[in-house]
Amino acid sequence: MTPSKSSPHIIWLDTAESTNRTLRQRIRECDNMSVIATVEQTAGRGQGTHTWYSTKGLNLTFSILLNPQDLLTDDMLLITCATTLGIRDYLLEKGVEARIKWPNDIWVGSKKICGILIENILEGKQIRHSIIGIGFNLNEERWPDELPNPVSLKQLTGVHYDPAEELEDLSSKICRRFALLDTSNGRSSLQEEFEKYLFRLAGEQP
Ligand code: BTN
Repeated sequence: MTPSKSSPHIIWLDTAESTNRTLRQRIRECDNMSVIATVEQTAGRGQGTHTWYSTKGLNLTFSILLNPQDLLTDDMLLITCATTLGIRDYLLEKGVEARIKWPNDIWVGSKKICGILIENILEGKQIRHSIIGIGFNLNEERWPDELPNPVSLKQLTGVHYDPAEELEDLSSKICRRFALLDTSNGRSSLQEEFEKYLFRLAGEQP
């Protein structure tokens, strides 16, 4: 696929322990909204003490660097809003209606299709850099028993996807949402839309 002008710069690696870790190490050579993706992730980190499962070459494991213009630690949630809504936009175009499970998982029905791990680098009260790590289940069809409720886009649509093409599309949609962080109207609309697609109560189903 020919990258469109609005596509972020994507660096593909054959292997990495964790793309969040690699991006942090290479932060000085990366521009705002650069993406580091890997075909194989050997020690993918999840929320808390969890690891992230992904078979080599099947899914999307990547991190985006965001250097916000003027975002305070109190506004951290806005980064989650923009990221989750961008992922939702992508899924909607595939005909899949997704919901956001507090604070930043993407679910389809009662199954999880995508996890997000955001790590911020602060300067006083300002967010200088945000490293947004995304694990998106694209083509996976077999899961370890201990994972309670995973699902992939392939399982939902029956289509096998090209990871490089899909990453261009998905990361463009997320970065389009990031652009809304630059204005107060944009920030309000992100927050409103996030609330609309969020479910957060333990027993509440999407
Ligand atoms: C979760 O537990 O739901 C968050 C999972 C986040 C996984 C992604 S994969 C790419 C990036 N690099 C990592 O080590 N973790 C995130």
